[in-house]
Amino acid sequence: MWPRMIEPVEHAASIQSDALMTSGEAPNVTAVANPVIRTDSLDLGFGSTMILEDINLEFPRGSITALIGPSGSGKTTFLRSLNRMNDKVRGYKRAGEVKLDGTSIWDSQVDLLQLRRRVGMLFQRPNPFPMSIRENVLVGVKAHKLARKSDFDQITETLLKEVGLWKAVSDRLNDSPFRLSGGQQQLLCLARALAVRPEVLLLDEPTSALDPFSIELVESLIARLAPAVTFVVVTHNLAQAKRLSHNTAFFFQGRLMEYGLTTQIFANPQQPDTQRYVSGAMG
Ligand SMILES: Nc1ncnc2c1ncn2[C@@H]1O[C@H](COP(=O)(O)OP(=O)(O)OP(=O)(O)O)[C@@H](O)[C@H]1O
Ligand SMILES: [Mg+2]
Repeated sequence: MWPRMIEPVEHAASIQSDALMTSGEAPNVTAVANPVIRTDSLDLGFGSTMILEDINLEFPRGSITALIGPSGSGKTTFLRSLNRMNDKVRGYKRAGEVKLDGTSIWDSQVDLLQLRRRVGMLFQRPNPFPMSIRENVLVGVKAHKLARKSDFDQITETLLKEVGLWKAVSDRLNDSPFRLSGGQQQLLCLARALAVRPEVLLLDEPTSALDPFSIELVESLIARLAPAVTFVVVTHNLAQAKRLSHNTAFFFQGRLMEYGLTTQIFANPQQPDTQRYVSGAMG
């Protein structure tokens, strides 16, 4: 019998972000009971293959959660299930629930476009759209009618400044994004994701293609935004999980092996597999 999840850890959004990049410690938070997303006994499979089994997790509003675990453990599949990205995959089967603010994301009242606005996603490989840099930033703002045309220039500038791209692209906003470096493309995708003011951002190894400077930029941006946005970040970079996240969930062979405060998961894991993984003994 595999161990059920540990008590969910709850946080408020009081993050000391300045300390984040220098101390190497996860920031201080205080407890509240307010999960923005929770999964209840989530099972997921493709065809006859079970990929995820009995996942029970809560993501407290404003928190940063790291999903860690070896390759193939189901982190991406789990992340994609939080905004229904798996629904159209061939052979997809599901049991259990994902609830956003208490409502099933599969409820017939839920509009998929709205769901994806509220729960945005950034993929491992940057995927700018085939339109100008400016249009990439504004695409969601326009689709959801979130601002007036007269505000578009200001929004573009603010977001590109926020992700640290403004200097590099301010004189070529109408150019294609595909001439940007991979790292710059990822930052542009982050600006696009933030432009629609998501409540939750799902990030799948978002910095694996970035240089150290851009990684630091993205991490401090996440830390700064976390009180307003709930982040779920898949990462293979254990140092990143440690310095960035409040909570850590360890996935192994399609199961949630352990979930708790990041400090506890790294310093005092309860499961032998977690211990092996966080100590580097498991690849
Ligand atoms: N569309 C699919 N059809 C069948 N199997 C799939 C599909 N997508 C993923 N899988 C399988 O699900 C399992 C979990 O994959 P997933 O990509 O979620 O792992 P991961 O933890 O994100 O791995 P990595 O760290 O390498 O990115 C793997 O065995 C993978 O082969
Ligand atoms: Mg993955």
